[in-house]
Amino acid sequence: MLTLRRIDIPRSVLGAATGVFVLTCLVVQARPQAAAPPTAASQLVQTGTVDIAGKSGAELFRSHCSACHGLDGKGKDASVLGFDVPTPDFTDCQFAPREALADWVTVAHEGGPVRGFSRRMPSFGEALGEVGLTKIVTHIKTFCQATNWPNGELNLPKALHTEKAFPEDEWVWTTSFGRDPSSVATEFVYEKRFGPRNQIEVKLPFETARLGSSWVGGAGDLTLGFKRAFAHSLDRGMIAALGGEVILPTGDEAAGLSKGTPVFESFFSFGKLFAGDAFLQFQGGVELPFDTQKAEREGFWRVALGKTWMERGGIGRSWTPMVEVLAGRELEGGATTSWDIVPQMQVTLNTRQHVRFNLGWRTPLNDRRSRSSSLVMYFLWDWFDGGLRDGW
Ligand code: HEC
Repeated sequence: MLTLRRIDIPRSVLGAATGVFVLTCLVVQARPQAAAPPTAASQLVQTGTVDIAGKSGAELFRSHCSACHGLDGKGKDASVLGFDVPTPDFTDCQFAPREALADWVTVAHEGGPVRGFSRRMPSFGEALGEVGLTKIVTHIKTFCQATNWPNGELNLPKALHTEKAFPEDEWVWTTSFGRDPSSVATEFVYEKRFGPRNQIEVKLPFETARLGSSWVGGAGDLTLGFKRAFAHSLDRGMIAALGGEVILPTGDEAAGLSKGTPVFESFFSFGKLFAGDAFLQFQGGVELPFDTQKAEREGFWRVALGKTWMERGGIGRSWTPMVEVLAGRELEGGATTSWDIVPQMQVTLNTRQHVRFNLGWRTPLNDRRSRSSSLVMYFLWDWFDGGLRDGW
């Protein structure tokens, strides 16, 4: 007989959930707005010594940048330039749109080394100022003419649990340390983008837990995933994606490391950028096991709110404090929803900013007797932007 139990959710959780819901509605309702200004407290020189009045970005590019970058922006070989590095191809849509405008203005303002690039890329801050360079970089951004590549501004900092909407080329190594019983769970994720808006993903988890006086563990279920950003707009500061995953029962079922049946997951994820480099990310979805005798059907949703600060007025290391709220429940009458909160801090480790670290503390908001807190962290390497040892 089906009995419906009253779902016991603490008031604080209901309050948090209502707040997040209202905020999400506001975000979805928000009127189109220009993307956030690159750096609120910018230390970049605004206007340089060169008179840029009445000159277009294209003209300034021709006079100041084209000697090395080519009139057509296609870049030049290292041997032609007599450098040890070539100049990049700004017409390449694989590459140009994913770089945020503010980052390129910073590189041109301060010179290559500010983001771990060659000294051969000079600094133009004093000559052209932020205003002139913004004109030029806006022009450089038109070299890739396709508009279906989401802009790098929409590539929001990755939270520990909420899947991003932006398609990525990344390696992410996540480890969490649990208590009661002591456990260490590690997951390796490889993400590869293809085309303007698609991404495939492979995830492999490993888990060890303390059983009595010894540790047992092994590899868990392998996940294969696909994601597609179906809508994006820099003017509205938003990006949305749909994704699907198949979790294969490759892990050791007897050791509790496998669901024992294939599980299909489908999800929606959404990112919204606000003024001042603040953002909201949402992911909601369902997990549907092939054999419902072995695993339960589950629904989940996750929200991450955060804001990025950059040291030295936009040119230094970037820090992103975030807070995630996670909810999950079995899809059957009477099941309770489990709620967790995860305050965390992401920081860029190198000058190029493509190697990042995030550290957080996951605490259950309900069912505290049966669920315990854990320390969670990841190392992230955006391999498209350079090798692991590049740009320090
Ligand atoms: C003296 C040659 C030279 C001039 C002039 C020059 N650049 Fe560069 N630029 C380079 C080189 C070389 C690189 C590649 C650096 C590397 O890969 O380490 C580069 C890289 C860049 C990048 C980095 C792209 C990336 O990989 O993310 C940007 C942005 C850029 N240049 C903008 C400009 C702008 C804007 C101007 C004109 C105001 C300009 N450059 C003028 C040599 C030059």
